[in-house]
Amino acid sequence: MPNCLITGVGRGIGYELARQALARGNRVIGSVRSPERAEELKAELGDRFEPVVFDVTDGKAIEAVAAAISFPIDVLIHNAGIIGPERQSTLDMDFVGFEQTMAVNVMAPLRVIQTFLPRILAAERGRILVLSSRMGSLSYAKSDHIAYRASKAALNKVLQGVATDLKPQGVAVAAVHPGWVRTDMGGAGADIDAETSARGILQLAQTLDLERTGRFFAYNGSEVAW
Ligand SMILES: NC(=O)c1ccc[n+]([C@@H]2O[C@H](COP(=O)([O-])OP(=O)(O)OC[C@H]3O[C@@H](n4cnc5c(N)ncnc54)[C@H](OP(=O)(O)O)[C@@H]3O)[C@@H](O)[C@H]2O)c1
Repeated sequence: MPNCLITGVGRGIGYELARQALARGNRVIGSVRSPERAEELKAELGDRFEPVVFDVTDGKAIEAVAAAISFPIDVLIHNAGIIGPERQSTLDMDFVGFEQTMAVNVMAPLRVIQTFLPRILAAERGRILVLSSRMGSLSYAKSDHIAYRASKAALNKVLQGVATDLKPQGVAVAAVHPGWVRTDMGGAGADIDAETSARGILQLAQTLDLERTGRFFAYNGSEVAW
């Protein structure tokens, strides 16, 4: 029974990832930001769900949670992310919001990976998947939501580096585009529901291996151009 750590399970894609991973028989450690939400989810998702509470930008809180975990983590899915500030065009930027977007979407995933790495290395076949976005692909010249796009582009580069560094240690790493998903972030008019996206991401998590490490995949298994 693989152990999965999933961040940002309180709503959206993260919630659905946790729900489906549990239905597949995994033990799920899921992070939320509020103790109240942790309690609600524990009641809702059952015994194999273990809520942990941290903000992904809070290094000390993440370290405290990692220190209390003694079992291996087979799969880390870092899902938590933000779309960024209201004003984020190249011609009119909210720079404080831009910094926050980089902190949550780029620095935080790396911090979470580094902090839980000893537990991931303790697994027989550790895997790391991080929710990125096609909006960060350098192959598209679109400029809306540029803080978000830039953060996901930077995240992709960081993940490529993590994959390179962890391959010799047997850990496979992928950036994942979840599709355009009907969540608070994606909006009601998006292409697919969270159920479809999460199903695909968990399939990827199951099949990701060292042969395919360091790549950028969509939820349906197709490869996305960097
Ligand atoms: N929806 C889409 O169409 C789409 C497309 C491409 C990529 N993505 C990516 O997929 C991931 C999930 O997106 P979503 O649509 O499910 O978004 P969402 O509905 O807005 O949910 C975002 C999740 O991230 C958590 N989160 C945000 N900031 C956090 C922080 N500082 N610390 C801890 N948790 C934090 C939220 O927790 P709270 O409930 O506490 O706020 C929530 O659980 C994101 O990385 C996003 O960039 C989404």
